[in-house]
This record gives sequence, structure tokens and C-alpha cells, in this order.
Amino acid sequence: MKILVVGNGAREHAILHALAAEGSHELHAANGNPGIAAEATLHAVDQNDGPAVAALATSLGVDLVVVGPEAPLVAGVADAVVAAGIPAFGPSGAAAQLEGSKSFAKDVMAAAGVPTAMAHICTTVDEVAAALDAFGAPYVVKDDGLAAGKGVVVTSDRDAALEHAREALAARGAEGRVVVEEYLDGPEVSLFVISDGATVVPLVPAQDFKRIFDLDEGPNTGGMGAYSPLDWAPEGLVDEVVERIAQPTIDEMASRGTPFAGVLYVGLALTSRGTRVVEFNARFGDPETQVVLARLRSPLSALLLASATGTLAELPALHWSPSPVVNVVVAAHGYPGTVRSGDAITGIEAAEALDGVHVLHAGTGLSGEGTLVASGGRVLSVIAAGASLDDARARAYEGVARIGLDGSQHRTDIALKAARGEITVPSL
Ligand code: AMP
Ligand code: GLY
Repeated sequence: MKILVVGNGAREHAILHALAAEGSHELHAANGNPGIAAEATLHAVDQNDGPAVAALATSLGVDLVVVGPEAPLVAGVADAVVAAGIPAFGPSGAAAQLEGSKSFAKDVMAAAGVPTAMAHICTTVDEVAAALDAFGAPYVVKDDGLAAGKGVVVTSDRDAALEHAREALAARGAEGRVVVEEYLDGPEVSLFVISDGATVVPLVPAQDFKRIFDLDEGPNTGGMGAYSPLDWAPEGLVDEVVERIAQPTIDEMASRGTPFAGVLYVGLALTSRGTRVVEFNARFGDPETQVVLARLRSPLSALLLASATGTLAELPALHWSPSPVVNVVVAAHGYPGTVRSGDAITGIEAAEALDGVHVLHAGTGLSGEGTLVASGGRVLSVIAAGASLDDARARAYEGVARIGLDGSQHRTDIALKAARGEITVPSL
């Protein structure tokens, strides 16, 4: 097939890496990055401009467009591609509101009977204060709109919670809304569920590390690492999530006349009161995609095309490698605050010389002299497969050690608790 992938992060690099491994496709990316350039032809286009992406796809004559990030999805890029007569993997702008608006997602969950945190939707600081006091600490305050993974504050500091709400409300003027939620205890799981608007096909669970520092300290980020499988997860978790969460949500979206096709990212907390949805996203998660796709043994192209063409029910069952995979994210100096760009990156080849290790690019660019430099917050994903989680961790960290990037940061405890058997799911 000829396939165009929209996006320029490690998630899109992971998608293209998996498609390239099939060995039979002509691959294009918009806009991509220097790592993606090794697997696909790059094209410059405004990713959020639907007609421009559709025109590029038409001129290339592609059979499928895969839209990676949330911003173009919410902007309706998949709609524009479909209107041009080309199958698109990714939901319509209307369906992407499941991610684009936390209050919309809460409304769908309530209608579908999906278990999630209790929430108050607030439009003033006074309403926020009342909601904080109603739930008590720890406080959870979420910006209603898209915020690149940084719109959520979880804190026991009431003033900090109020301040985040005040900023989020002010930033969006009269439209400003924040969601104040009940705190969910228990370990988190990310499960990606592929849908074509009717049928759902779950992938394998992964776990993400959202905070910048070891031991889950510091502010939230886009995600600092991931691993899969989750040996500690209860048996039957995936079936439970499909039955009680994914299928009812897909059915509810269809009955509203806005069917959701693409990947429904179900962010879960396994709490003492049962499995709860923390969030929905309308696209693959980053950094979890890097480990999930590293384990996929069935052709990714067939899965994405079946979602885009409404034929998932006919797709053969997916096959998975049992080997654990760990992804450690290397981030730039200053992330998740103001990052420093332009520092040279070295050692990728040396890292990839290690058995089972590959490196995916996110915030990378080329300097005027053509050297590889950091150009964003999360710079690289170092992914390793191993015979055990310990083995995969050791290889991933050996890979990270071979990467040179001045001032870079990474967590040293990705998958550590799981490898030590220290994760417990609270019992009901
Ligand atoms: P979200 O963007 O909604 O996924 O939130 C980002 C992160 O904040 C989640 O992955 C959780 O770690 C944390 N979080 C969000 N909502 C809650 C909640 N209700 N209780 C506890 N932690 C939460
Ligand atoms: N891994 C978190 C996200 O993609 O939102």
C-alpha cells in the first residue's frame, strides 16, 4: 500500500517503523522528523489543515492516511481526507471530542454507564473551590480543552489546585471550563482499543510514567516511559474493559450519529472500588505505542485499514510477542518547562547496536551543518525487548547510556516496580 502518516513524534515513528517492517509499502510522512526520514519520504504541510493534508494525500495517490496526533484529529483532518475519497485512520473531528473536551467525554461516559471518577464541571473559581472541598484532597483539576498532556494537576496543595484552575479558566476566556474530579487510587493502565465505529479490537495493555522524576515526583509530562506486558494486571482486565467501557462508548458515539473510528485510548485506574476510566484519548498514546507496536506480530497496515474501511469484524485475531518491551524517554534540558533546543545528539547507532534495542525520534532536527540536534521536549524513545522485564530494562538503560545529549533527562525507574513485583491492585 501507499500510506501517509501525519505527525512528527516518536508515536508516528513507531507506526512507520512497524509499517516499514512489513516490507511492502510505499511510506510517506507529514511532516516527520530526521528519524522518520529513514523509513518514509517527508512532506512539509500544515498538519492541522485538513484540505492541505487531503490535497497531499490525493497528489501522492495514497491508499490510507494515518493521523497520529490529537490536534489534527480535533481540527477535522480525517474528515477532509475521507471527503477526498481516501480512507483515513483516526476519528472525525466530532468524534475526537472524546479527547478534545473532558466534559464531553464525561457526558458520553455517563450516558454509556461507563465507570469513571465523579466530577464537577466548573466555570468560575468559586465553583472550583466548592468542588475541591466537596471531594477533599488529593485534588484533581483538569483543563477542559487540549493541553498536550499538561492540563491536569493532581496535588494535595489546595492553593496550587486553585491556581491551576484560575489559569486554565483565564486562558480560555468566556469559554473557560475546568473539571474537578474525585481522586482515583490504584495503578494506572493504558489500553488501546481499535474501532471502525461498530466493532472493537483491543491491543495489549501498557503502563505509562507521567511524572518527570523518579518515584512519580514532579509535574506531569507527556509521558517519560512505558512497558508491556503488565504481569500484575488482573486476569480478564482486557475483556472487562471491552465489555464495560470500550463497546458501550463506541455504541453511544454511534447512536449520537458521530461514530468513533480509530483508536480509543482508554486510560484506566485500577482502584479499590473497581476499574475506572481516568481519561479517553482519540489517538495512540505516546510513549505506550512504542512498546505496544514493538510487540505486535500481525501486520499493522491491515489493522489500520480495517478500522478506516469498517471491516474490523473480518480481521483475523492479532498475534503478540510475549517478550517484555521497555521504552525509556530521553527528554531535553528543562522539560516539561521551557526546553533547550539545538544541543547535538550522539550515540544512536551505538545504542541500536545492542541486541533488541531500537531508537525512535521525537523532538529531533538537523542543524545548519546537518548534525542531529534536540528540537523538542521529548527527544528520543529508547526501546528494548528482552527475555524478562529485568532484561528489557537493562538493555533499554544500556541504550540510554550510549546516547549523548547535553543536559538531557530520563527516569531511572521505568518498569522497576513491576520488575520487582511491587505493584498491587487494591482489592474490592
Ligand atoms: P489525564 O490527562 O486526564 O490523563 O490526566 C493525566 C494524569 O493525571 C493521569 O494519567 C493520572 O496520572 C492523573 N489523573 C488524572 N485524573 C486523575 C484522578 N481522577 N485521580 C488520580 N489521578 C488522576
Ligand atoms: N501517554 C499519554 C498520552 O499519550 O497522552
